[in-house]
Amino acid sequence: MTVTTQRSDRSTETYSIEAAIETDRLRKVYRTGFWLDRKVESLKECTLQVYQGETFGLLGLNGAGKTTLLKTLLGIVKPTGGKGFLLGKPLGDRSTKQKIGYLPENPYFYDFLTGWELLEYTAGLFEIPKSIQKHRIPALLDLVGLARSAAQKKQLRQYSKGMVQRVGMAQALINDPELVFLDEPMSGLDPLGRKQMREIIISLGDAGKTVFFNSHVLTEVEQICNRVGILAQGELICCGTLGELLTNDDKYYYVSGRGGNREVLDRWMKNITYHDDVWSGQMQGEPQEFMATLQLLDAELLSLRQGRASLEEFFMEQMELRGIRSSS
Ligand SMILES: Nc1ncnc2c1ncn2[C@@H]1O[C@H](COP(=O)(O)OP(=O)(O)OP(=O)(O)O)[C@@H](O)[C@H]1O
Ligand SMILES: [Mg+2]
Repeated sequence: MTVTTQRSDRSTETYSIEAAIETDRLRKVYRTGFWLDRKVESLKECTLQVYQGETFGLLGLNGAGKTTLLKTLLGIVKPTGGKGFLLGKPLGDRSTKQKIGYLPENPYFYDFLTGWELLEYTAGLFEIPKSIQKHRIPALLDLVGLARSAAQKKQLRQYSKGMVQRVGMAQALINDPELVFLDEPMSGLDPLGRKQMREIIISLGDAGKTVFFNSHVLTEVEQICNRVGILAQGELICCGTLGELLTNDDKYYYVSGRGGNREVLDRWMKNITYHDDVWSGQMQGEPQEFMATLQLLDAELLSLRQGRASLEEFFMEQMELRGIRSSS
């Protein structure tokens, strides 16, 4: 069975309904402190399906539990409770590892190796024959935008953060994985690097791979993903396609302006943010009345738009609804 979803640019995507990732009340409680007597519940009974061929984005503030969930799925962290399956096999199953790629958060590799040597080393772990490595390594370097000269001559300790991220992406793809886990793939990349990373992730989706990634960059997620989930303080608070979550809601107006009185603006608007004297947020009310108020306040209206929220606006609203103001 197949389902068709719509991306934010209105193009459609068809994928099979088989779950590539499935969890049932997956939990992780870390024990910390000198006597291991303090408990941190980093993942609370998480039940989730990610379907084959989907690009799934997991969002959340710092400390929300994104890396914990990803590492638990990969079998790096042992769950405290619940269960999960990758490609139909229980978490931690050795045979599944051949089909998985992983880009860790803040990757750290043996830094006396060159990028090329790292890729040869990773290829060796997957027992990829030299004859295939010879073509695959340069192709991956081109894909991630890392110069071959740098990959062959420079040791990893001489790489910039963005170069490490690029070689990290190449090693995650060395085994031509079916299922790819990326923990903050945009981290450390300049605007061009982020665009390239976005294109790589889209091309993985186009090639039928399942991609699961953690990110803070909501605008990127909105452009790339079929479905998203939001974690807050270890709890999966919502999960769905962009179409399902960002419903066209005509009762909201997204407005921005300059000047006025903060106390009055705060009463009119939700999720209002200020940058010096420029503000923006969500207004739920009569536009005429709102504009009359702005006139009284001697404030200037810069934009007013009705309808669908952006993923960022939706995310902020979810945090506000739960009274979450900063990372845990
Ligand atoms: N090994 C560990 N031991 C104890 N606590 C941990 C450990 N790893 C993570 N935690 C705690 O679990 C919670 C979730 O951390 P996690 O790294 O999963 O968050 P995250 O959403 O990936 O954050 P970020 O966006 O900053 O990467 C935090 O409170 C963190 O302090
Ligand atoms: Mg993390």
